[in-house]
Amino acid sequence: MDLGLIRRVAARTAQQAGDVLRSFHGNLKDVRKKGEIDLVTEADLASEKVIIDAIRGTFPEHGILAEESGETKGDNRLQWIIDPLDGTTNFSHQLDFFAVSIAFALEGVPKVGIVFNPMSGELFEAAAGQGATLNGRTIRVSTRSQMKESLLVTGFPYNFKEILPSLMTRFGKCLSASQGVRRLGSAALDLCFVACGRFDGFWEENLNPWDTAAGLLVLQEAGGKATDFSSRPFHVNMKEILATNDQIHDQMLSLMRLGS
Ligand code: IPD
Ligand code: CA
Ligand code: CA
Repeated sequence: MDLGLIRRVAARTAQQAGDVLRSFHGNLKDVRKKGEIDLVTEADLASEKVIIDAIRGTFPEHGILAEESGETKGDNRLQWIIDPLDGTTNFSHQLDFFAVSIAFALEGVPKVGIVFNPMSGELFEAAAGQGATLNGRTIRVSTRSQMKESLLVTGFPYNFKEILPSLMTRFGKCLSASQGVRRLGSAALDLCFVACGRFDGFWEENLNPWDTAAGLLVLQEAGGKATDFSSRPFHVNMKEILATNDQIHDQMLSLMRLGS
């Protein structure tokens, strides 16, 4: 399997999808609700179409899992996992923090990951065993090992009301233990920002494979660690993610534990 080719196609496609998103930014006409606060816009759909058309055109035999259209028939051992717009709430409020996230996975394990913010022009890329880059330069996680010096990021899933007590408990513990906690609104970029050392740790519950697949590989290839809240190695089908620079992982695991 030519991961170099897959990576080039994925990066080029993410940039094309990014052009589509930019053309809709500040210019949305159709914003619908998938749930009480979960939005989908014409930009999500147009971006997803560009990505799926490009992948089908180059790799017609591969399977695709995309947020808005679900699973497409194909060899699902070789599967593309796509979030055409990660950060739709930001996007629909004309904030600049969102991304296209495209991963290629072999039997559910990401082998190529691309996360692109079309507004900042930041392109995060990773291929298994080949490291991670930001706009072509190698990135590494931070070396901070003290919680008090660590800057953390989290996200609130759309069903946050169902898990509010545990969410607030973890948030309070992390806020008290660290230098600060941010909530930026794109899980894919949150993972990449841990990968390049801007943040030291990220946690969230109830994410989907398209939120995490590409960013996970970027993080791992940059030397980071991802598990669930019980220290099991993270897999894209898991709902809980704790992603750190490795140095503070055990300390954050203990902050995730409820009732202590
Ligand atoms: C959302 C973003 C957000 C996270 C949510 C995700 P979407 O994805 O990644 O940061 O907190 O849980 O669902 O809906 O904008 O693609
Ligand atoms: Ca998402
Ligand atoms: Ca999305």
